Amino acid sequence: MYLGIDLGTSAVKTVLVDGAQRVIASESRALTIASPQPGYFEQDPAQWIEATFVTLDALKASHGQELARVEGIGLSGQMHGPTLLDANDTPLRPCILWNDGRSAGECRILEQRWPALRAITGNKAMPGFAAPKLLWIAKHEPGIFAATRRVLLPKAYLRLVLSGEAVEDVSDASGSLWLDAARRDWSDAALAATGLSRAHMPRLVEGCALAATLRSELAQRWGMVRRPMIAGGAGDNPAGAVGIGAISPGTAFISLGTSGALLAPTDHIAANPDRVVHTFCHAIPRMWIQAGAILSAASCLAWAARLFGVPEADLLSPLGAHPQAPSPVRFLPYLAGERTPHDDPVVRGMLDGLSHGTDRTAIVQAVLEGVAFALADCRDALGDAGIAVTEADVIGGGSRSRFWLSVLSNVLNVPIHRFAEGETGAAFGAARLGRLAVTGEAIEAVCTPPQRVETFEPDRVLVQAYAERLPAWRQLYRPRH
Ligand code: XUL
Repeated sequence: MYLGIDLGTSAVKTVLVDGAQRVIASESRALTIASPQPGYFEQDPAQWIEATFVTLDALKASHGQELARVEGIGLSGQMHGPTLLDANDTPLRPCILWNDGRSAGECRILEQRWPALRAITGNKAMPGFAAPKLLWIAKHEPGIFAATRRVLLPKAYLRLVLSGEAVEDVSDASGSLWLDAARRDWSDAALAATGLSRAHMPRLVEGCALAATLRSELAQRWGMVRRPMIAGGAGDNPAGAVGIGAISPGTAFISLGTSGALLAPTDHIAANPDRVVHTFCHAIPRMWIQAGAILSAASCLAWAARLFGVPEADLLSPLGAHPQAPSPVRFLPYLAGERTPHDDPVVRGMLDGLSHGTDRTAIVQAVLEGVAFALADCRDALGDAGIAVTEADVIGGGSRSRFWLSVLSNVLNVPIHRFAEGETGAAFGAARLGRLAVTGEAIEAVCTPPQRVETFEPDRVLVQAYAERLPAWRQLYRPRH
C-alpha cells in the first residue's frame, strides 16, 4: 500500500494506492491564499501541515486497515515558493507563492550578478521562481533574511515535519534558480548570488529515491504497522508526468490545473529561456522536462464562475460537447500576469469584442479559448527549442470539460487524449514515486500510461477558423513595462 500526498495551491490531496495501482481512497482539504497587495500571493505553511494531517486522519477513520499497511509515501507539491525557517525550523513568514509577481526588479539584479544563470539553470530569472523572492526579502525584510537558517520548497517543509529530515528532490529544486540543471546539483554560484550557501539548502535526491522515514509518533498516530519510507517525490507537474507514464521523449502533455502548462519530457536539456521555456529535471533519473507554463488556466474558469455567481458546471453545460465556431469574444487569460512567452508579472487579463448581443456562453467560450491560445504560445516556444508536439494527454481539473479538450485539439491542431478520472494527477504520480523508492522496481514497469478513454481529433474547418483568430488574439497583448 502506498500514499501520495500532493501539496497543491488550492488543496492538499492525499491518495491511498494499492499494489495493483488502484486508488483505494482519496481525501482532500482546501487551502486559502492571502493576497496582501495586488499581485502578491502568500500562504501560511501551518495550513499545509494541518490540511495534510486532516486528510490522513480522515483516511485512518475510513480506511484504517489499508492505511496500516502503507510502506511508501511520495510527496508532490506546488513549486517555487521558498519557506524560510529559523534555527528551530520554525517558519519566519508566510511562503511567497509561485504566482507572486513582486520580485521582477530582483530578477534583473540576479541576472546581472550571475550572467551564467540562464546557461546553468536552463531558465530565465522570473518572479515566480524562488531565488528572486529571497533577494526581495533581503531588501524589504532584512531581519527575516538574517534569521533564515534553511530555505525549503513547500513539500520539503512538509517532509521535514513528517520525518525530521531536510531533503529535496531535483525536479522541485529546478524551480528555484539555484540548481545546475545538467549536474542535478545545487550551484554554489547561484546560491552566492542570492546571499545564501549550501548550508541553507536541503540534501538533494532523485524523485524515485529514498529520502526519509516517517516519524514513529506519526506512524503510530495513523496506525501504521511499520514506519513508511518517504521518496524524494516531485514538483506537481513532474509528479503528474509520472502519474500518466510521461517518462520518455515524445510524451507531451497539458496540465489544466489552477495554473496551466504544456510539458515535454526530454532525454537532454533543450532550453529556450529567451522565450520563457522552463527547464525542470524530471522526477526520474537522466530525464528533464521542458515546459511552457501559464499562470492562469482552470483558475480562469473559476474566476468566470465567481463573476456570474454560478457553479462551473452550469457555465459549461450550455456550451455542448464541442464548438461550432470560435466565440466572437476574445479573452486574454493573464489574470495573474504571465510567464511563457512574455515573462510579464504586471500584465492583466482582457475581454475584447463585447457587444449588446454578447451572452454568458460567448464569454465562457472565450475564456476557454483564451487559455488554449496561451497554450499555443507555449507550443511555439517549445517548437523554437526543437520540440515538436504532435499529440498531447491532458491532466488536471480542466480535463473534465470535453468542450475545452475539443477547443484545445482545434487550436493546437493535434489529437488530445483524455483519461478516466482518478488514476491520474500529481498525488497518484507521487504514490508511484513512493512505491519505486521502496521496491526498487524498474521505472517503466510502474510508470505505465493509464487507459485513454477518449481522443479529440482536430476538425479541419475549426482548425482553420482558430488559426485565423490567433494573430489578432496575440495582438491584444500590450506590455506595460
Ligand atoms: C510551474 C508552476 C506551477 C506551480 C503550481 O512552473 O509554477 O505548476 O507548481 O501548480
